[in-house]
Amino acid sequence: MKSFYITTAIDYVNGAPHLGHAYEKVLTDVIARFRRQMGDHVYFLTGSDEHGQKVQASARKEGILPQAYVDKTAAEFRSLYDRLNISYDDFIRTTEPRHKRVVREILQKLFDQGEIYQAEYRGFYSTRQEQFLQEKDRLPGGGWSEIYGEVSEIVEKNYFFRLRKYQDWLIEYVGSHDDFIFPRYRQKQVLEFLKEPLNDLCISRPKERLEWGISLPFDDTYVTYVWFDALLNYVSAVADKGLWPADFNVIGKDILVPPHAVYWPIMLHACGLPPPKALLVHGWWLQSGAKMSKSTGEAVSPLALLDQFGVDAFRYFLIREMNVGQDSEFTVEQFLVRYNSELANNLGNLVNRTLNMTTRFSGGVLPSAEVVDMPERELHELWLKTRDEVLPLCEGFQFHTALEKGMAFVTATNAYIEKRAPWKLGKSTEATDQALLRTSLATMAESLRLAVALMAHVTPATTAKINEVLGYKSGPAWRDELNWGNRLDGAQVAPALVLFPRPERPAKPV
Ligand code: ME8
Ligand code: MG
Repeated sequence: MKSFYITTAIDYVNGAPHLGHAYEKVLTDVIARFRRQMGDHVYFLTGSDEHGQKVQASARKEGILPQAYVDKTAAEFRSLYDRLNISYDDFIRTTEPRHKRVVREILQKLFDQGEIYQAEYRGFYSTRQEQFLQEKDRLPGGGWSEIYGEVSEIVEKNYFFRLRKYQDWLIEYVGSHDDFIFPRYRQKQVLEFLKEPLNDLCISRPKERLEWGISLPFDDTYVTYVWFDALLNYVSAVADKGLWPADFNVIGKDILVPPHAVYWPIMLHACGLPPPKALLVHGWWLQSGAKMSKSTGEAVSPLALLDQFGVDAFRYFLIREMNVGQDSEFTVEQFLVRYNSELANNLGNLVNRTLNMTTRFSGGVLPSAEVVDMPERELHELWLKTRDEVLPLCEGFQFHTALEKGMAFVTATNAYIEKRAPWKLGKSTEATDQALLRTSLATMAESLRLAVALMAHVTPATTAKINEVLGYKSGPAWRDELNWGNRLDGAQVAPALVLFPRPERPAKPV
């Protein structure tokens, strides 16, 4: 079995989770489930980033200790991911001893190798991004981009990691590994950034300024810069598993340059470890054109939609709407359009018709298909085409198009039902009409089974539920499930299932 190690970014737990956090975990989960279906041995890591100035400040505001604060907020993130059906194998928290131990070991090793030195730091710091800034990061007018929040000037003695020394190595590495960054066009952005000489990375904060962090193993009066600490979670979590390098570090575009595309590969290289095989960079969910975030306070609560529409409708929307890598505007209206037209009126309708008609015309037992005429042949052919297009689309992370094609097959199945009109055939006693009736019931049920098998990594609970009402137990090999096989002959179906009920009132952002 091929092993496949995939990670998400670990979220700052300095507030409540929002749609952007939820999306990243759902996207990574969809990839993990898809790879498992394809037969890979998947290891899926997620977690929380619990140190740094932001967290310390939020804890102070609530008047509690940072540890108590992160215990509470990390639990909130984790419970959201459980409700989202995220199939993670491990959830790492950067305050755990297993993580701190590895961070300290690596720092000591780099210090012993002479990769870390002490010097005076002069520069600017964005707490919101937990990021150091230089004069060149200023806007043309002299100010700082809104994304940095409040920026303060710092002059203090600190420890530095020799980034500059590895700049040429990194340029060569990024330039010669076209698959290192997905989507590929982001490689240019990284190479552009690397045209300017790199500054060595300030990796410490004096404890007078920041207490909440991992103490430097070689100088107890300092804590580790939160990014240096956080990036190492991908390694610390699998320290005893031999899984490094990861196949994919999934991240948002705001943390590609410099943390994941510059600091991270250089940190690993300096330790004698290979970079991750690839970075998968997703875009932002926007609201009225602005990035949603905890700090700006205009985030939509994902929980509101989850409660109202259920986990799979929510997962379906996020994956159907976003082209991985690009940004997407979030509106409740667009959510309702997809929910009603694709889930309720298309898929939900096919489920209802299949169950109702099988109950009404066949005593709830699915008959065998006996006839293969033009309408059946067309549907079979469309299935083969759909399946053969969808697999490579999923392998290339084009899940939104894959879902579109899956839904088009559901639409074609509903059209097939209109054409065969089983409700008319059911009134006839002619033997040929009865054979066609049995064929149409078997065909719609098999099409439904195939369509939901194809979407299983996006809507796992719905797929399982539909299999259950069809009286079907799926086999172990997913690709084999995608063969048209009349597998439902003789299955006993449930009389009804309401999958995607009409909302009682329109959802509103909270
Ligand atoms: O950056 N749309 O944490 P974070 C899509 N702790 N994705 C979004 C988003 C939005 N509106 N807002 C945030 C951090 N994200 C660090 C990561 S990894 C070693 C340390 C994504 O809570 C963001 O791009 O600010 C990132 O990948 C993730 O959510 C966590 O963001
Ligand atoms: Mg952020």
